[in-house]
Amino acid sequence: MTQILEIRDLKALAKRRVPKLFFDYADSGAWTEGTYRANEEDFSKIKLRQRVLVDMTNRSLETTMIGQKVSMPVALAPTGLTGMQHADGEMLAAQAAEAFGVPFTLSTMSICSIEDVASVTTKPFWFQLYVMREREFVLNLIDRAKAAKCSALVLTLDLQILGQRHKDLRNGLSAPPRMTPKHLWQMATRPGWCMKMLGTNRRTFRNIVGHAKSVTDLSSLGAWTNEQFDPQLSWKDVEWIKERWGGPLILKGILDPEDAKMAAKTGADAIVVSNHGGRQLDGAPSSISMLPRIVDAVGHQIEVHLDGGIRSGQDVLKAIALGAQGTFIGRPFLYGLGAMGKEGVTLALEIIRKEMDVTMALCGKRSITDVGRDILAEYDQLP
Ligand code: FNR
Repeated sequence: MTQILEIRDLKALAKRRVPKLFFDYADSGAWTEGTYRANEEDFSKIKLRQRVLVDMTNRSLETTMIGQKVSMPVALAPTGLTGMQHADGEMLAAQAAEAFGVPFTLSTMSICSIEDVASVTTKPFWFQLYVMREREFVLNLIDRAKAAKCSALVLTLDLQILGQRHKDLRNGLSAPPRMTPKHLWQMATRPGWCMKMLGTNRRTFRNIVGHAKSVTDLSSLGAWTNEQFDPQLSWKDVEWIKERWGGPLILKGILDPEDAKMAAKTGADAIVVSNHGGRQLDGAPSSISMLPRIVDAVGHQIEVHLDGGIRSGQDVLKAIALGAQGTFIGRPFLYGLGAMGKEGVTLALEIIRKEMDVTMALCGKRSITDVGRDILAEYDQLP
């Protein structure tokens, strides 16, 4: 095994260890995957400003996200079916994030339940909410998140209907999984993954199935999602959820300054500039390219976070330089989880932390809270 030095190494290892069906689920984007690629590529167009002979001792990456202390400005993004990358995936990722001092966000579409994660963690985590047509069900989720003492609700706005991912369709991904000979073969070629699943993960899909009322006829994941999720979700509903939740609220999936202004008016605590990791509207711009405009529009009113395409600590630093208070990572921690379980998630976070720390120092800064546009070269020529 080659040394694991960057997120790309974890991705390669995950690809070898996770059955194709589930690796592809994590790794895919919508349609042509153009937005998915742009999310990553646009970071490399932003250049850093090298500074010398600045005291580089006593550096700190500590800051806050929605007023909560974090050891670095990187939260684990909500990702559905995380428990299919590795047995008990949500619980392991939550534990790794807690030990690292960064927020973990549990997706509505998780394999492990809110209570499962609460039972293996000691500090509050964040819960991500999708709004289903069935409002009773939404209220029940909010109540469960409150009972588990979740310290923020992340309300996702960019998935009223599901974008199409060709890889999932070609692989026949369904909920719950319907095993075809092709799937069984994919799993047979990943015996390590199978052993862990059989040994520990008996809750597969119980949670998701428990989420919806009429789930007897689940066919493809897309059809199921479109059946359950509310296509009429509106800003009025956001206000209703804010009231019912009553705690810190983060609105995720904002990519346009006009929507950002609407979001700021709701009085939420933060927005996440995001295109769902390029999994929804293919052809939309990258998150990082929209960040400066959104920060200019609402940065004085509401905290702005960003996700999409972050693959290194340098990427995090660039987002912070352009006005994000914090960032989220999705695939980087999923690759770590698929590659090596909890240690893989920790390793992904360590890689990002080290890259961020060294880059910050070489840009002449000692504290993440001092990082601004002045660490960027040619920041007026952003993508
Ligand atoms: C996601 N994302 C997501 N977002 C959300 O609000 N609820 C969810 O259940 C999911 N599920 C999900 C599954 C998988 C496999 C991926 C990769 C992503 C989107 C996620 O929160 C985040 O916006 C992106 O992952 C960020 O992009 P990167 O870091 O993956 O490039």
